[in-house]
Amino acid sequence: MRTEILRADETAIEHAAQIIRSGGLVAFPTETVYGLGADALNADAVRKIFIAKERPFDDPLIVHIAHVHQLELLARHIPQRAWDLVKKFWPGPLTLVLPKTDRVPSVTTGGLDTVAVRAPAHPIARRLVELSERPIAAPSANRFGRPSPTTAQHVREDLDGRIDLILDGGPTPIGVESTVLDLTQDPPMILRPGGVTLEALQEILGEVRLLGSALSEAAKRSPGTRWRHYAPQAKLILAEPAELEQIVGDVLRSGRRVGVMIRESRLWTAADSLRVIQMPLDLSEYARRLFAALRELDAHGVEVIVVERVEERGLGRAIMDRLRKAAQTPPQ
Ligand code: TXA
Ligand code: MG
Repeated sequence: MRTEILRADETAIEHAAQIIRSGGLVAFPTETVYGLGADALNADAVRKIFIAKERPFDDPLIVHIAHVHQLELLARHIPQRAWDLVKKFWPGPLTLVLPKTDRVPSVTTGGLDTVAVRAPAHPIARRLVELSERPIAAPSANRFGRPSPTTAQHVREDLDGRIDLILDGGPTPIGVESTVLDLTQDPPMILRPGGVTLEALQEILGEVRLLGSALSEAAKRSPGTRWRHYAPQAKLILAEPAELEQIVGDVLRSGRRVGVMIRESRLWTAADSLRVIQMPLDLSEYARRLFAALRELDAHGVEVIVVERVEERGLGRAIMDRLRKAAQTPPQ
């Protein structure tokens, strides 16, 4: 059966909250990407998320709250710097990793004794959590490993028939996921760069570490940072601006269809086997377009996607993180 998409007015959100309360699955917009929500304190409901997404059970979920006081229900030993961050960045795209309380079922945290919590800023997400009267566990609402969904239609592409409802709130305004910050270590460590930048966190925290890209370290600290993630079906190649034309030419000559994501306009000879998406120079606009562009090129059936690198500052770090993971081949 097809999964229904409802425009997210108050009646639809109330209906969605009812589904969450009775242990079902609802996809909903947040300011970052669409999430796939279930009652975070109901282990059976949370288990359905992993099954619908085909996500490994050891990859922990983010728990969404509407009010700061719900944090104390989920996390213990909340340090002062957590409150400083909450004050500055919540509601918003910052996820905090803290030691969990016994209320949080271990399936929600992938068996870890820490929990990741965020208060989303999107009015539909907030209202849904409020009306559900419980925290909502929600990973991105994509099939595991695929580019994250930034529209209700993307959610349907990946999860149709597997979930109870999709709330449509239009395209998500940020387009890349929240920053995941581990506060159980000193200095705090960014496990996944996202909507709140390293520079903004440094202003509050002083020293902040960025999780190295070494596979072993990444996999240990945050299971979800394992490779080949956010990935289109096509093979993705990251290119320096200067080498881009050469690479695209080589792929075309090998007889494969190629998609290109570039920021500077260039002259391309029209070809059936070549599809070019002009990406914005502005990093916020780029982030908003990123996952939709990958899905669009997949839909055109290109075999290779060549993407021009972006500068690694501000949101550029989150963008490059996603592109690098999409370009990785799985470890042997
Ligand atoms: O913006 C977002 O964060 C979106 C929206 C829906 O809120 N959610 C999202 O969830 O991106 P997901 O499951 O796709 O990514 C969650 C990330 C994963 O990399 C996971 O490993 C990490 O957060 N994570 C969750 N709990 C953790 C924990 N206790 N310790 C370390 N990493 C954790
Ligand atoms: Mg995800």
